[in-house]
Amino acid sequence: MPKIEGLSVENYRCLKNITLGRKSVKSAADALTPISVVIGKNGTGKSTLFDAFGFLADAINVGVDNACNMRGRGGFKRLRTAGSTGPISFKVYYRESAASRPFLYSLSIDLDDTGRVSILRESLKQAGLSRSGQQAVQFLDRHSGNETALVDSYTVEANAARKSIPETVFPSDKLAIATLGYLRDHPRVIKFREFLEHWYLSYISPSAARGVVDAGAESTLTLSGSNVGNVLQYLQQQHPNRLAQLMKTVTRFLPGIHKIATKETIDDRLVIQFNESKFQDAFLAQQMSDGTLKLFVYLVLLFKPNRPDFICIEEPENGLYPDLLGALADAFRSQTDSDERSQIFATTHQPLFLDNFTSSEVWVLDKDPKTGFSGIKRARDFLSVTELEKEEFGLGSLWLNNYFQA
Ligand SMILES: Nc1ncnc2c1ncn2[C@@H]1O[C@H](COP(=O)(O)OP(=O)(O)OP(=O)(O)O)[C@@H](O)[C@H]1O
Ligand SMILES: [Mg+2]
Repeated sequence: MPKIEGLSVENYRCLKNITLGRKSVKSAADALTPISVVIGKNGTGKSTLFDAFGFLADAINVGVDNACNMRGRGGFKRLRTAGSTGPISFKVYYRESAASRPFLYSLSIDLDDTGRVSILRESLKQAGLSRSGQQAVQFLDRHSGNETALVDSYTVEANAARKSIPETVFPSDKLAIATLGYLRDHPRVIKFREFLEHWYLSYISPSAARGVVDAGAESTLTLSGSNVGNVLQYLQQQHPNRLAQLMKTVTRFLPGIHKIATKETIDDRLVIQFNESKFQDAFLAQQMSDGTLKLFVYLVLLFKPNRPDFICIEEPENGLYPDLLGALADAFRSQTDSDERSQIFATTHQPLFLDNFTSSEVWVLDKDPKTGFSGIKRARDFLSVTELEKEEFGLGSLWLNNYFQA
């Protein structure tokens, strides 16, 4: 499965210039771990970082101009770091699989002469193997202006000349990977587009999960979890073993519940029934508590087949009883500990949740009071943290004891 090894963001709200993990083959920094957890005081940029992933995921669907105005982002001028005049830029450094050479996707956007949001630069390249003298391979290199240079992956691999495609092919606010990613000639671009399109940026909410939906099995969970009943129906019909695994975990979290199933109504709607051991009649999702529903949707996401390669969840602990946080961290970990499993990125305010992660997995955002910009550092790079971790101090207790102060 693809894994993101590093991310850089420039001029995106309070993230003036931050890098997590690696951004080149030469980078001395370690790659992002399969699970990353970000902490930081209020207003240090956790949601902004989460939204940087969200921006890229939206940009591929609707273009950069529309993405600037979606989800309350308020337009390019509000998104660009206050006082800054440079472009907003993103770099995603990733591997298609553990064995493949890493790729770097870069995107810079700015206002053009007419004040429209447009793409200044977009490129996709694969790192070369320096020992064998192999050069980096450029699959896409697009500049604003008159000329858009594009390199066809096949011709490059065959060492042929660069091939240019006139700029008119790409509207200035649409990602080239969105267009090229549907053309057979560009297999690497296709893979990246597919990867990006399958990022799961969770906006899961109990109220969305309570909505009544039309019956019908669905394999993909919506970002709000509104079709969790349809996904449950899919598991019932096509993956009973997975469903059994899921139910085992559900009962670990919520011991009172012994069965969860869907039922079609006479008007072809779908309801989810929760059977509690003390009561004969099942409760409907509409009657279940917020925390129960939220947890259930997370577990469906984590246990269903064809899980997204990359899952981002903001403050998963919200609304959950503290005793459950260890089990939730276990459920996350069980889905991230091999190459075939998802990569998870989460933010948290809860020390008890943080206790379940290592200092390589935890990142600390902090705002510089002099500049108002945020910086990010791995927890293990703070003084004494790795030593104390060896002595079995949890990261949550170190956090409470101010070990992550700048
Ligand atoms: N264009 C901008 N330039 C610089 N800073 C900005 C810009 N837009 C917003 N900010 C700042 O970025 C901060 C980060 O907000 P964000 O929502 O990411 O914080 P957070 O870490 O998620 O906080 P919380 O824990 O409260 O959810 C805002 O509080 C604001 O001060
Ligand atoms: Mg936030």
